[in-house]
Amino acid sequence: MSTAISPTAYNYKVVRQFAIMTVVWGILGMGLGVFIASQLVWPELNFGLPWTSFGRLRPLHTNLVIFAFGGCALFATSYYVVQRTCQTRLISDSLAAFTFWGWQAVIVGAIITLPLGYTTTKEYAELEWPLAILLAIVWVTYGLVFFGTITKRKTKHIYVGNWFYGAFIVVTAMLHIVNHMSLPVSLFKSYSAYSGATDAMIQWWYGHNAVGFFLTTGFLGMMYYFVPKQAERPIYSYRLSIVHFWALITLYIWAGPHHLHYTALPDWAQSLGMAMSIILLAPSWGGMINGMMTLSGAWHKLRTDPILRFLVVSLAFYGMSTFEGPMMAIKTVNSLSHYTDWTIGHVHAGALGWVAMISIGAVYHMIPKLFGRAQMHSTGLINAHFWLATIGTVLYIASMWVNGITQGLMWRAINDDGTLTYSFVEALQASHPGFIVRALGGAFFASGMLLMAYNVWRTVRASNPAEAEAAATIAVVGAH
Ligand code: HEM
Ligand code: HEM
Repeated sequence: MSTAISPTAYNYKVVRQFAIMTVVWGILGMGLGVFIASQLVWPELNFGLPWTSFGRLRPLHTNLVIFAFGGCALFATSYYVVQRTCQTRLISDSLAAFTFWGWQAVIVGAIITLPLGYTTTKEYAELEWPLAILLAIVWVTYGLVFFGTITKRKTKHIYVGNWFYGAFIVVTAMLHIVNHMSLPVSLFKSYSAYSGATDAMIQWWYGHNAVGFFLTTGFLGMMYYFVPKQAERPIYSYRLSIVHFWALITLYIWAGPHHLHYTALPDWAQSLGMAMSIILLAPSWGGMINGMMTLSGAWHKLRTDPILRFLVVSLAFYGMSTFEGPMMAIKTVNSLSHYTDWTIGHVHAGALGWVAMISIGAVYHMIPKLFGRAQMHSTGLINAHFWLATIGTVLYIASMWVNGITQGLMWRAINDDGTLTYSFVEALQASHPGFIVRALGGAFFASGMLLMAYNVWRTVRASNPAEAEAAATIAVVGAH
């Protein structure tokens, strides 16, 4: 390993800000998840008020966990990874600071407007046009900072993690701008530029690729940096990572129609979406295997390193949810699973098991480095967090499988004379125990986040950010 003195330190300030906000928004978003899960157990918690009703808080939960928690984790890690693997400072400190404050402003806007009932009604794209425009401006600036930094890199090649982050940034911009095309009629209301089945198709082209590029491709960028780093092993196969990249981004974009099976969408489009979803299993598992196999010769580290455990278990959940997804995309399976809690379980296998766990692992990896400490304040607390998160996720998804299949079978049960065997309320009653277990699992997961906040706070309190930056000044060639 050769050493060379880099003339510039990295911009760790913006990474620190996004990393801390990942923890803060994680607690709020997941806390709200536990609250809405409890509303499904005890409807009195709606308090009879519109602002606190399930219908208004549910989209606030999804916005907070996906865009605030997940988004901050992606900003923090991408800024960290791009600087370290390109051996250069972010191209502009002020533009990077703008992305931080702009992103927080969008989130605060969501916290105010969604409970008030202002919404486009498009799932995961609920924010009304003024906030959607601000989001677009922040996102384009993000692209400028990220790709600008890549252009002034001091390394010859572009590390594969950056390819994934790059695709996530470009495609998210495209999805957001196209899906948000609308006609504003007042400050808080706009109507979609598309109508009928076209509107539905564009919405689920957006929705599915929000999963594919925001919740998957960006986090795979994270995986390609933090798994090898934490395991102290090179990535298992660089060649596989390139095949993985091109196959994943080529296939994901076609799979959206699996959200619209048995609708007014043309039949051929539904079948195409189904076929593409099944093929998608291959690159998804290719990526998972590449990550897992990176641990060859380092499996013993799992015994002592809970951060590595977070990263590896996240890959296991990624593998699980990307097996389950293609199965649910098969039309006959979807006729049972659609509208049921099975979908909710699938979502959280990906969201808690994959997205949240890999982000948590990456933040634990970064915090000491960003704040000039040798390690986190307490490894024992990370370990406790790991078990709370794992048990919480398992309770969540297992209860939703049971609920989903019960609901699907009860809804389709028919008596000899053609009448329904069960009323909807009977299926709801049968779901009640599952709702309790889900709320409990969510509470496990969210309490793990509180341990994380305490651990991060203790680490930061004893920190020396100036030392972290000085260490970064003596950048080591081959840090990636
Ligand atoms: C403590 C953790 C969490 C709890 C207790 C929780 C709970 C919930 C509940 C109760 C719902 C509504 C389900 C329904 O309508 O029947 C929901 C929806 C959703 N949550 Fe969470 N959640 C948690 C964490 C997360 C995280 C970390 C993410 C993403 C990174 C996430 C993403 C979503 C999404 C995308 C939906 C909408 C699913 C759909 O429409 O099919 N959640 N969550
Ligand atoms: C190969 C990969 C995947 C495929 C083919 C796939 C497929 C599917 C299918 C068929 C549905 C149900 C659609 C419906 O009946 O309405 C679904 C829902 C969903 N999946 Fe996946 N999935 C995959 C991976 C993932 C991952 C890794 C995540 C999260 C990180 C995820 C998040 C979601 C969300 C949020 C929904 C709910 C959308 C909604 O109705 O609001 N999926 N997925």
